[in-house]
Amino acid sequence: MKHDISEHIRYIGTDDKTLDLFEGQYIVPEGVSYNSYLIIDERIAILDTIDIRCTEEWLANLECELRGRKPDYIIVSHMEPDHAASLHTLVERYPEITIVGNSKTFAMIEQFFEALPACSRLTVKDGDTLSLGSHTLQFITAPMVHWPEVMTTYEQSEKVLFSADAFGKFGALDCYDGDWDCEARRYYFNIVGKYGAQVQMLLKKVAPLDIRTIAPLHGPILRDNLCRYIDKYDTWSSYRPESEGVFIACASIYGNTAKAARALAEILEAKGAKKVAFADLTRDDMAEAVEDAFRYDRLVVAASTYDGGIFTPMEQFLAQLAHKNFQKRRVAIVENGTWAPAAGRLMRELLEAMKEVEICEGTATIRSAFRPCDRFALEALADELLA
Ligand SMILES: Cc1cc2nc3c(=O)[nH]c(=O)nc-3n(C[C@H](O)[C@H](O)[C@H](O)COP(=O)(O)O)c2cc1C
Ligand SMILES: [Fe+2]
Ligand SMILES: [Fe+2]
Repeated sequence: MKHDISEHIRYIGTDDKTLDLFEGQYIVPEGVSYNSYLIIDERIAILDTIDIRCTEEWLANLECELRGRKPDYIIVSHMEPDHAASLHTLVERYPEITIVGNSKTFAMIEQFFEALPACSRLTVKDGDTLSLGSHTLQFITAPMVHWPEVMTTYEQSEKVLFSADAFGKFGALDCYDGDWDCEARRYYFNIVGKYGAQVQMLLKKVAPLDIRTIAPLHGPILRDNLCRYIDKYDTWSSYRPESEGVFIACASIYGNTAKAARALAEILEAKGAKKVAFADLTRDDMAEAVEDAFRYDRLVVAASTYDGGIFTPMEQFLAQLAHKNFQKRRVAIVENGTWAPAAGRLMRELLEAMKEVEICEGTATIRSAFRPCDRFALEALADELLA
């Protein structure tokens, strides 16, 4: 399937459906795409190279679209290896090419590539433009919309925003069924989530532009109803909950804490919670749990005490949330302990260090097995959480 933007803006990226872990930690059951684009005009510009896993396929795509011509520019939006790793091979093949980046880009090139063949370099600043003939590229820096050197590019004649990692989505393009939100949200909160303020800055910078197409570095090219995607990004990057509901994250060693957490789910539903989502942190995808914690306005953390600490999958989950700047949510705590329950207090301490996290005063403490009388504590906790 072809994913070209227009006659003159061609898609030359590739799908990667055999990658085990994206960025060394995220499962990608439907693969991932590394997008790369070619603008054909009097002068030819490539927007980003590709992961080293796909260099050959990408070069073949490039050559096919070049039809015997040579590229004049390689625009480097982002130096992360999933996009920039093939720079060396590209410059080797086309030594007359000019690398376009900002000052931070070139510092990183020196670090990633010890002996990049000599070629011209063009250093651009925020707002600079580069004419290719009838197409004009306008560079819009987006520092820390993942990395410090990130820049987006607005093509003025066809009104395309090349958005770098922003508006990216997990999933190979040939697996895309039109459901954008789920895997774009998992991508956003896990990859870019820490940098909400910087995403807000980028949204403000591009707001005055007439954008007809958003072309990210991963996932589908967005053409219709762009407001919808921009609204999602506005919600996500301002840390506002997207949906009303409770996400229950549970880490149980032998299943007793999980029983209590499941009972709490039923109680919350009976009390009118709009939606209750559940994750078993010992087995389910951690990145999806992080996504759901950000999606809903309320969170329950339920964990066994483990060697005087928090059972480690929960400890990891809370560390991920802290890392991704989790904030502005209401949280309830369920703990289990057999001789000296400590998970509740320790989870509370970790949550208290987060911004604008409102923690229910009561903690439901289960002693070893979940008993019918424990329901009273869960009922009270549910009331407090939903209040
Ligand atoms: C390896 C291990 C370490 C534990 N450490 C503690 C502990 O330090 N303090 C405590 O009160 N309970 C401790 N427990 C008991 C658990 O917190 C919990 O009460 C018990 O595992 C039942 O809950 P579960 O089925 O959800 O795991 C430990 C259990 C295991 C298996
Ligand atoms: Fe990135
Ligand atoms: Fe990326």
